[in-house]
Amino acid sequence: MLLFAHILVAGLTVPSRATTTGVYNSSKTPVGLPWNTYNYCNAPHVNAAHYTRPAGADAGAELVYLNVVMRHHKTPLRPQRTPDNLYPGENALNPAVGWDCSDFLQFNYGGGGAHVYHSTFAPASHPFLDQMWNGTCDEGQLTAGGLRDAVQHGKDFWAVYHHKLGFLRSVDQSEIWVRTSTEDRTMQVASGMLFGMDPATAERSWPVFTQPSTIDSMVPSYSCPGADAIRAAYQSVPTWTDHLQQNSDLKARLDATLGTAGLSAWSSWYDHFFDTFASRTCNGHTLPCNSTGACVSQEDADRVFAIGDFEYNYIWNAAQNSTTYNQLTFGVFFSELAQNFAAFRAGAERHRVRLHVGHDGSMVRLASGLGLGKLAPLRWPALGSEVVMEVWKTGGKSSALFVRVMHEGTPVSSLQWMPIDDFIGLLQAQVPADILQQCTQGN
Ligand SMILES: *[C@@H]1O[C@H](CO)[C@@H](O)[C@H](O)[C@H]1NC(C)=O
Ligand SMILES: *[C@@H]1O[C@H](CO)[C@@H](O)[C@H](O)[C@H]1NC(C)=O
Ligand SMILES: *[C@@H]1O[C@H](CO)[C@@H](O)[C@H](O)[C@H]1NC(C)=O
Ligand SMILES: *[C@@H]1O[C@H](CO)[C@@H](O)[C@H](O)[C@H]1NC(C)=O
Repeated sequence: MLLFAHILVAGLTVPSRATTTGVYNSSKTPVGLPWNTYNYCNAPHVNAAHYTRPAGADAGAELVYLNVVMRHHKTPLRPQRTPDNLYPGENALNPAVGWDCSDFLQFNYGGGGAHVYHSTFAPASHPFLDQMWNGTCDEGQLTAGGLRDAVQHGKDFWAVYHHKLGFLRSVDQSEIWVRTSTEDRTMQVASGMLFGMDPATAERSWPVFTQPSTIDSMVPSYSCPGADAIRAAYQSVPTWTDHLQQNSDLKARLDATLGTAGLSAWSSWYDHFFDTFASRTCNGHTLPCNSTGACVSQEDADRVFAIGDFEYNYIWNAAQNSTTYNQLTFGVFFSELAQNFAAFRAGAERHRVRLHVGHDGSMVRLASGLGLGKLAPLRWPALGSEVVMEVWKTGGKSSALFVRVMHEGTPVSSLQWMPIDDFIGLLQAQVPADILQQCTQGN
């Protein structure tokens, strides 16, 4: 747990000391803290003990549709496309045995073929071994602990939407449609969620839907230089550059210990430090220690976690033009969500729930577009972070459809009971009309 204050500067919160609570070293939130405390290792989610019917729902109202977007659970590291989040001398910054993933079988096989799974090994003779940790884990794979968290997540989901509300009837493809990114870890989390809902799914094949990795709207991974230019501009103004300046003491200490001095990927933001620290501590490793025995201190890690929240909130929510950036980079997914709800309204949806398993970049953009960042600064979306969009139908003659949104298991105050037309309007408002043109040709 750590405590931080946020001081308000020009509508932006800049991390300094004390008041925001967070857990970064265990999937289990300590019992002394509220159940819905921010836990980076394992976000709180909808569960039977804390679920309540929407305040606006009359006695005859019933749940009629669900659309869920979540982030995958924990991994040894969060790979970026380029460059990677690995330290330049990664091997030496880990225990001698490295990471153990021998308790997790990663299956990848062709339909009709043998059920092969792959086991990572890093031979002592490998000339590039100093760039990677020892042991049996690959960087972005789910860990056994991450799978356990996904299974529990699925159990909790089922306890509410099957046992408590009787809405979902069986874990069946006719009711549940699943989409993931093309990364193994999001599919592995989908498998954990389904298994948590019904262990019999372990004996079955289940299709999860993926878009082409080059244009996946959910990661998102489609190219948008127009948006990149807008973001580069708001990351070159003092509201952004000041925080790098103000924390140069911290940066110098981290560079000295971790060998990251002079690398732009590590100096343009704290993203990589955040990820390399939290991935370790969430999975029961210590903060990194170098070969001479010097370790990153808990105090410095706490500062990095607070700065990470500041950066996420700035880039996707608070910066001038961040709304445009968010809409350009996630507009395709917002459009798809709007289509899901419109299809439901038109009676054309065949499934009771659409479950999407994506990434932190999916969650922060969704949260921002839904207006959650207007209620409180957004934090770095935790592992297993969840947005559940419920559609309720009121009883009686004047029956109507309303949407209620839950974020990390708690109803969103501004989205507790919204007519479905308004909710679809809110989603559509996040879709730039000329998105392809603005992305590819700038403006
Ligand atoms: C997690 O960190 C907190 C303080 O930051 C500490 O009190 C607690 O013992 C740690 N828990 C684990 C499981 O390491
Ligand atoms: C990783 O294993 C190699 C080969 O066994 C060894 O030389 C190296 O020291 C190990 N890494 C660490 C950090 O001990
Ligand atoms: C936001 O966009 C406007 C219009 O392109 C531009 O004039 C302004 O400088 C941008 N602001 C930042 C902080 O980049
Ligand atoms: C380890 O960290 C200490 C403290 O930051 C630093 O002085 C030392 O040079 C580092 N050693 C290596 C091998 O990186």
